Amino acid sequence: MYKILWIIAIVFVIAIALYLASIMFYEGGTSVRETIRETYSYPETTIVGNIVYLPLPNRVTNMSIEEALLLRRSLRDYTSDPITIEHLSMILWAAQGISNTKWGFRTAPSAGATYPLEIYVVVGDEKVLIKPGEYLRAGVYKYNVKTHSLLLIKEGDYRNDLAREALNQEWVAEAAVNIVICAVYERTTSRYGERGIRYVHIEVGHVGQNIYLMATALGLGTVAVGAFFDDGVARVINAQENERPLYIMPIGVPVKPYYTTFDEINKYYIANRE
Ligand SMILES: Cc1cc2nc3c(=O)[nH]c(=O)nc-3n(C[C@H](O)[C@H](O)[C@H](O)COP(=O)(O)O)c2cc1C
Repeated sequence: MYKILWIIAIVFVIAIALYLASIMFYEGGTSVRETIRETYSYPETTIVGNIVYLPLPNRVTNMSIEEALLLRRSLRDYTSDPITIEHLSMILWAAQGISNTKWGFRTAPSAGATYPLEIYVVVGDEKVLIKPGEYLRAGVYKYNVKTHSLLLIKEGDYRNDLAREALNQEWVAEAAVNIVICAVYERTTSRYGERGIRYVHIEVGHVGQNIYLMATALGLGTVAVGAFFDDGVARVINAQENERPLYIMPIGVPVKPYYTTFDEINKYYIANRE
């Protein structure tokens, strides 16, 4: 008799526990999910005057390099959603981040470590989320490699002006942000002469691919844009006299992320071998 009462009591306690858990998870109030959401610490962004100290780089994705290569695609259709400042931080780190503290070597290789590239970011209005309800001011920013920060060069949403100088490619106007990669040729040609021009162009390709792969791993879309009026783009971003724009890379939340599998690719290879 006692045994049966014990079993009933245990079943009762378990049922109550399951009921309470279901309320906490699914019915709002102080649900576990809400608690997690409220206590999620947004990575720190510190803004001092015109300088934005970006969240520090970290491992934020679980995607392998094989998957990122497989899923990299030029994506030109973006939703109107903002990207997060954490993601922008990771994309800039992938482009020109420091990966050696002794010599200051970076994520992308550079001929003779002459580092001829400068990075600008054209940020749209309410398009880079710092934390709920707080956005990065729209404007043109310049990336500081040594401090992983952005310097506000001019305020305002310049995406339409940039798109106009890029032959009206609408993905430039619609992306949350555009990364503009410029070259200071003399940094490399002063060491390598004419051949330095070739080296600078090879280097921008490395940086572009780093941006593509990081964007893919973050679930974002990008496309390398080389068709634009150099002087027009330089004017929009307030580039220095010796900085020549080479690439524009719009970044946005893709309407449809690219998807394939190694299975599909391998079937292709096998079929071509027959
Ligand atoms: C140097 C270069 C310049 C490019 N310029 C443009 C461009 O101005 N506009 C654009 O939409 N795509 C541009 N692209 C992207 C290519 O169209 C794209 O890489 C190609 O169609 C292959 O597609 P995938 O990148 O998805 O593999 C450019 C790519 C490279 C490498």
